[in-house]
Amino acid sequence: MKHDHSPVLPGPGATDYARYMQTDALLGLQRSPGEVIHRDELLFQVVHQSTELWLKLAAAELAEATARVVAGQLPMAEALLVRATLAVRLITDGLEMLRYLSPVDFRAMQPALGKGSGAESPGWRQVQATSRQLGHAFGEQLDTRGVPAADLCPADLSDPLHRLAEAMVEWDERVSLWRVRHYQVALRIGGHPPAGSPGSPANMLAKLAGHRFFPELWQARLHSTADE
Ligand code: HEM
Repeated sequence: MKHDHSPVLPGPGATDYARYMQTDALLGLQRSPGEVIHRDELLFQVVHQSTELWLKLAAAELAEATARVVAGQLPMAEALLVRATLAVRLITDGLEMLRYLSPVDFRAMQPALGKGSGAESPGWRQVQATSRQLGHAFGEQLDTRGVPAADLCPADLSDPLHRLAEAMVEWDERVSLWRVRHYQVALRIGGHPPAGSPGSPANMLAKLAGHRFFPELWQARLHSTADE
C-alpha cells in the first residue's frame, strides 16, 4: 500500500516535519560554505545557536516555575525547574564540542564574529532575569509561610518547600558548573591568561563561577554544618 506523504500543514517546507519544525529556516541560519572565512564557523555557530535554544527553553520553564511558586503550586514549580536544570546540563555538555576547535582556527574565524561575545547572549540574560524572579517569588513564599531559609537544611524531602529549595540549589550549582567549564574553554581556546593575571578577561569569568542566585539557600547549608 502506498502512503500519501504530501503535507497537510500550511507553510514553507516539503513535508509536515519541515513545515512544523521550520527546518528550512533553521538550517538556513548558519553561514554557508561560500560565506564562511573558516570551515569551523559551522561548529562554532551550531554550539552557540543550540545553546540559545536550550536557554530559551530554560528561561520559559523558569518563568512558569516562578508563576507556580506565586500560586503556591510548589511540586509543579520543582518539576519545571528540574527541566531548566537539565537544559543547563545539556549546554554544559555542548561545550565539549569546542574541545575540537583549536586556538589557531578560532583566531582565524574571529574577524567573522565582529566584536561579538557570548557575554551578549540573549539566552543567558533571560535566564539570569528569570532566576532572580524565581528567587524573589520563593522568598515571598518563605515569608508567607513564616519559614526562615535557615530551616531548609537539613532538607525534609517529604516537604514540597524543601524539595523546591533543593532543586534551586542544584540549579545554582549547574549554572556554576557551566561557568567553570566555559572558563576552561575560554582559557584553552581564547588563549587568555588565567584568573589572577592583571587585565585578563578570565578574571571576570573566575569570579562569576562563584556567583549564586539563591545565596540564602547556600547560607542555610553553612549553618546546618556549623550546628553539627
Ligand atoms: C571559543 C569559545 C569561547 C571563548 C574563547 C569564550 C570566551 C569568553 C570570554 C573571554 C568571556 C569574558 C567576557 C569577554 O571578554 O567577552 C566570555 C564571556 C561569556 N561567554 Fe564565552 N567563550 C566561548 C564560548 C561561549 C559559548 C559557547 C557560550 C554560550 C552562549 C558563551 C557564553 C558566554 C557568557 C554567557 C559570558 C558572560 C560570562 C558569564 O555569564 O559567565 N561563551 N566568553
